[in-house]
Amino acid sequence: MPDRIASYGRWAVVAGASEGLGAAFSEALARRGVSLVLLARRADVLESFAAQLREAHGVDVDTRAADLADPALPTLLAEIATEREVGLGVYNAAYSPRGAFVDRPLDDLLKVLDVNARGPLTFARILAPPMIERGLGGLVLMSSLAGLAGSPRIAAYAATKAFNVVLAESLWGELSPHGVDVVASCAGAVRTPGYLSSSGDGGEAPGTLDPVDVAERTLRGLGRGPRVVPGFVNQVASLVVGRWLPRSAAVSIMGSSTKDLE
Ligand SMILES: NC(=O)c1ccc[n+]([C@@H]2O[C@H](COP(=O)([O-])OP(=O)(O)OC[C@H]3O[C@@H](n4cnc5c(N)ncnc54)[C@H](OP(=O)(O)O)[C@@H]3O)[C@@H](O)[C@H]2O)c1
Repeated sequence: MPDRIASYGRWAVVAGASEGLGAAFSEALARRGVSLVLLARRADVLESFAAQLREAHGVDVDTRAADLADPALPTLLAEIATEREVGLGVYNAAYSPRGAFVDRPLDDLLKVLDVNARGPLTFARILAPPMIERGLGGLVLMSSLAGLAGSPRIAAYAATKAFNVVLAESLWGELSPHGVDVVASCAGAVRTPGYLSSSGDGGEAPGTLDPVDVAERTLRGLGRGPRVVPGFVNQVASLVVGRWLPRSAAVSIMGSSTKDLE
């Protein structure tokens, strides 16, 4: 089914693009003929993925190896946006340390804010103005079901995911009248390398999806409202923990699914 993503502009920027969901977003966009700037820390992984995309889809793919927690992020993004017509930005990367809040070093918890909150805010602030000027564009901020209710043992991560939902919804309200679509994607479990390496032997969480599915459902959500929850099971879960249950019960349910996270 054709969508209007390819008409946003020639280029998309994907932050956190080298594997998992970020790679799935990149592939889905390349398939639509959109050229890409891929950001992640591992230059070699990024470059070999970029070569695959060029070969398979005939699009231009530039790579920038960078840590999204770096204070130089605004400069990097400004340079990217100045040199190209960026029609879509996908902020996918996240840092998700697990375990007891008081056992984590403060610096580590503050890095969660840098990657998961300062990063997407900077991303949106720098990419949006040229989109507004052209009257066309899109922004995707990756969130999580963990952003819909307090989640013990991933407290800092969950709090930043709530930040992304509210940031995206607010920007949806501000930017839609200017032709810029904004969506927060509240994913449940996704079979990414990051998730698989940390999920242990307890089997898959209900509603676990493949990255390709989550990327497609999220992209199709652009222009249809401020928030998408990929997958039926996750939609029900989002209503249960986000709306129907009293907050204390919602936090207990989230806590039962995160209690073994180390
Ligand atoms: N997987 C799930 O079950 C799940 C569930 C709900 C929500 N989500 C959300 O979906 C998004 C993607 O999840 P994921 O599991 O695919 O994540 P991931 O595997 O941990 O990382 C995704 C990408 O981000 C890059 N990245 C991570 N930290 C970075 C940094 N500081 N600077 C630059 N790049 C960085 C990684 O590449 P490099 O290592 O090369 O930098 C990788 O390409 C996240 O926002 C997450 O909150 C995931």
